[in-house]
Amino acid sequence: MAVRGLAAAVLLLACAAQAARPYRGGAVATAYPQASAAALEMLEKGGNATDAAVAAAFVAAVVGPYHSGVGGGGFALVHDGKSGETKALDFREVAPKAATRDMYVKDGKVVPGLSTDGPLAVAVPGAVAGYLQLLKEHGKLPPSVVLAPAIAAARKGIWVTPRYHSMANGRLECLRRDAEASRIFLVKSEGGTLELPPLGHVLKQPDLARTLEAVAKGGARAFYSGRVAKAIADTVQAGGGVLTVEDLAAYKTRPRQPLEGGYRGHRILTMPPPSAGGVAVLQVLGALEKLRPQGIAFKDPEALHLYVEAVRRAYVDRAKYLGDPDFSDVPTARLVSPGHIADLAGSIDPKKATASLSLLPQSPRTQGSTLTDKPAVHTPEPEKKNTTHISVIDKDGNAVALTTTINYGFGSCVVAKGTGVLLNDEMDDFAAQPGVPNAYGLVTGEPNAIQPGKVPQSSMTPTLVFSKEDPRKVMLAVGSPGGSTIPTTVIQVISHVVDGGMDVGRAVNEGRLHHQYLPDELWVDKWGLEPATLATLEARGHKIRRVDQWGDAEAVFVDPKTGLRYSASDPRNEGMSLGQD
Ligand code: DON
Repeated sequence: MAVRGLAAAVLLLACAAQAARPYRGGAVATAYPQASAAALEMLEKGGNATDAAVAAAFVAAVVGPYHSGVGGGGFALVHDGKSGETKALDFREVAPKAATRDMYVKDGKVVPGLSTDGPLAVAVPGAVAGYLQLLKEHGKLPPSVVLAPAIAAARKGIWVTPRYHSMANGRLECLRRDAEASRIFLVKSEGGTLELPPLGHVLKQPDLARTLEAVAKGGARAFYSGRVAKAIADTVQAGGGVLTVEDLAAYKTRPRQPLEGGYRGHRILTMPPPSAGGVAVLQVLGALEKLRPQGIAFKDPEALHLYVEAVRRAYVDRAKYLGDPDFSDVPTARLVSPGHIADLAGSIDPKKATASLSLLPQSPRTQGSTLTDKPAVHTPEPEKKNTTHISVIDKDGNAVALTTTINYGFGSCVVAKGTGVLLNDEMDDFAAQPGVPNAYGLVTGEPNAIQPGKVPQSSMTPTLVFSKEDPRKVMLAVGSPGGSTIPTTVIQVISHVVDGGMDVGRAVNEGRLHHQYLPDELWVDKWGLEPATLATLEARGHKIRRVDQWGDAEAVFVDPKTGLRYSASDPRNEGMSLGQD
């Protein structure tokens, strides 16, 4: 499709966004039509999957300021179709040098909001360094071309969609507290109060456009030093935060070894720690394969029970062991070893739900844990779509799965003055007090305590599944937002495709189930299960909580037999899948 025909094509395809139609060339899935269009434009200009994914990531920073941005960070897996090699890049934020273990604790208690709202919540951003590093290592096009759609979007403006509305509404008080964020993301009413912009209102971000132009010309240096860096540090410090220009100057991305496993003959590569997601994906799929070697029938209540129990145990391991491997000994290899997965599977009662608290320190499975036997149980509001995923597979079989975030909706709600850079609140992904739940209700332990320079534990799980016929060829690129629910979303999409032989469009649409060990409840989304199946799970002792919906899976599938690509954007959000005919 010619680039000039793109706008019309985007309109046309937007009407059929969820139909996973076949493409002969590259295909992309993102949470925003503009980001998917930018990715497709890069492919049309001769760029590869990395050029497309990075262009989409920069556009996402402009059009979805509530999900991700240049003030955030993330993870990417990049597969080279020619060499068959896959690399992982960790460009997540790190704790500033002056961060301390107890910075969010007063009088022995975590102060609510301190690690999520405002300047003290801000960790050192990694997105710009990460996106440019990906481009340098794997891309074909220059930054000026790849950043152009994002710059244009920032200048032209974005219209306020229902998603923008609900996200800004959820963070209204937080945004109102920051004058710069209010100026950009809210409007003044006639009475002088700061309110949500009306639906359809156009928001322009000229300061962000200038910052992106500087990055396009000057590279990461234009962000991590000079005017932008100074504005970030000054803004954060003026509000009582601890981030400095030295922190920004010292920021480095970290190459990681992808975590490898398999499911029913398919090789899987996923994100290793500091992501906790990849370990959970391999543990749960491994346990399911062990317990159901013959495969899993769609919505079979017995298999659903086994899935929930495997997830419960994976999240216990997560709480106990996972954190930044550069700071503590994270036993990743053991956790995904066949022996450990067999133990995990073997400890499941096929007929009865295990009480989560019985898996805590007094039981042999959790000895040595730093968690107390009765951790505070916080039930989070599950719908917090403030992260975004981009999947691309190009015509040459290069693939990218990239998940990026500013953590909470609109991050910390702090915009660095004059730069348009909305800063993250990724510090909340640390254990503010080991054993005390964070905004997602996740309880993490000692390995995830705050230390300067450390990466907070993450749920982000960009994942590649390879074809059975050729384990060097990517069959599925997938990932999602959803905080603690990210790994279970990824697991279910993979299982739907591999076990159910489901087309990728349907696999991302399907209702979902999630457990995270604490709170001890099984979340079922509104289309997740019909009453009879729910009743059989309840009879096994699962405490069910109906949740409206969560996640936003973005996936590209290659049919190993025909080589055709199919892309799918989750109907739960405003995204779009596109491809080259
Ligand atoms: O890295 C993490 O696990 C979180 N900061 C991700 C946040 C998220 O996905 C919120 N989304 N819905």
